[in-house]
This record gives sequence, C-alpha cells and structure tokens, in this order.
Amino acid sequence: MAVIDPLPSGIHVACIMDGNGRWARRRGLPRTDGHTAGEENLAEVVRHAAKRNVGWLTVFGFSTENWIRPRAEVRHILSLHKKLFGRIEELNANNVRVRWIGRPFDEPEAKTPSVVQKAIRQAIEDTAHNTGMVLTVAFDYGSRAEIVRAVNTVRRSHTSPSVEEISSATYLPQMPPVDLLIRTSGESRISNFLLWQIPSARIFFTERTWPDFDATEFDAALALLDTNPRT
Ligand code: IPE
Ligand code: IPE
Ligand code: MG
Repeated sequence: MAVIDPLPSGIHVACIMDGNGRWARRRGLPRTDGHTAGEENLAEVVRHAAKRNVGWLTVFGFSTENWIRPRAEVRHILSLHKKLFGRIEELNANNVRVRWIGRPFDEPEAKTPSVVQKAIRQAIEDTAHNTGMVLTVAFDYGSRAEIVRAVNTVRRSHTSPSVEEISSATYLPQMPPVDLLIRTSGESRISNFLLWQIPSARIFFTERTWPDFDATEFDAALALLDTNPRT
C-alpha cells in the first residue's frame, strides 16, 4: 500500500463505535436503523475531528467476530460501508485521507466481499491527494489476527522479532500509537481492537450509544488528554 505522505501531525484517536443496536431498541426501531444512524453519526464525527488537532482517527467498523450476526444485519452493515467509503466529496471537502485495516483481501480467512473491497480501494485512491486527517476504517479487523500476521511476517527473516519490527509489519505500519481510545455505550471492553497500538492510550468510556456520540462528547473525550498530559 502507498505510504502516507506527508504524515499528519496531531493526535491519534480511536473509536469503538458500540451501541447501535441499543440505540434502535430504545426507540422501538429495528437494529438496522441503529446502524444507519451510526454511519451518519460517523460522518459527523469525522467532520468535527478534522477541525480539531486530530491527525489520525481510527474507527472500528466491523470485527472478525461480527460475521456471526444475522445475515440480514450483516448485509445492511455492508451496504453502509459502501455508503461510508462513497462519501468522497465530503471527505475531500474536509481534506481527509481514507485508509483501511483488516485481514488482507488475498488471505484465505479474509471475508471482505468484493463490492466493499472495491469501495475501499476507490476511497483510498480518490482521497490520496488530501493532506489532512487520516481516517482509518477497521473492517474485517481483529487485533490478534493482525499481531499473528505481523509476527509471522517478521519471523521469515529473524528468529527474535523486536517491537519495531513487529510494528513495521502491522496492517498500517505508519499508524502511530493511539493517544485516546473511546468506547461508547457503557461497555468497558477492548474487544480485540488495536491491542498492539494502545499500550499507553488514555481510555474514555461513555454511556452514550454511538449514534448519540456528538461533538460535545468528542470534545469531552479530548479533554482527557489536556487534564492528563503524557509525562
Ligand atoms: C456497534 O453496535 C456496531 C457493530 C458492532 C457493527 P452494535 O450493533 O454492537 O450495538 P449493540 O451493542 O447491540 O447495542
Ligand atoms: C465491537 O463491538 C466491534 C465494533 C464496534 C465494530 P461489538 O458490539 O461487536 O463488541 P462486543 O462483542 O460486545 O465486545
Ligand atoms: Mg455491541
């Protein structure tokens, strides 16, 4: 994959966008409506983050564990990823570059369908000229799979991989460590997200469901970095 040039300055914020189902249930709506609202909210959060000192925004869109969900729900989520990666005009207007992390399409275990692969490739290409925030969408992503692959890649040439070598074999080697990890909807779990990249991240858990996670909440999460500066 092409290198990211120039690398953005600014902090790295990662989001585990949880609670779409609960958002919908509380309103007596089908879960799919929760996912639709969640995708729309992501577009808002991207717009907002691009105006702050955020160089990298990495979001958990769909995990390697999420494929066991009901087929109709998965199909709906796939269509929303097509929509998300299709927001080119908006991304360009905000100077945002798109990236993706997940099981590489040519690996036997990979599950990203070809329509989504195509949308991902297109979004990366059509936003490559931007110079602002890097929005990385984790789709068919699992952190343990990422680490195992990185270790195996490095082991081909070495017997004892270093931290730097494993970092350089992760899905997106230029991605810096996460400064702030946000998880919505009251769950205090990491759920196999960016385990290698979060060794010293601040963590912001909020009761808000993802579709209700707005600019004010985002700024409250950012304030965690101001009040607890890294030593
Ligand atoms: C997050 O919302 C979206 C994905 C995991 C794809 P959920 O669908 O997990 O919502 P809850 O946890 O059931 O409320
Ligand atoms: C984590 O949410 C994955 C995404 C947000 C895509 P889940 O709702 O799948 O996580 P668990 O299973 O409750 O930990
Ligand atoms: Mg959930």
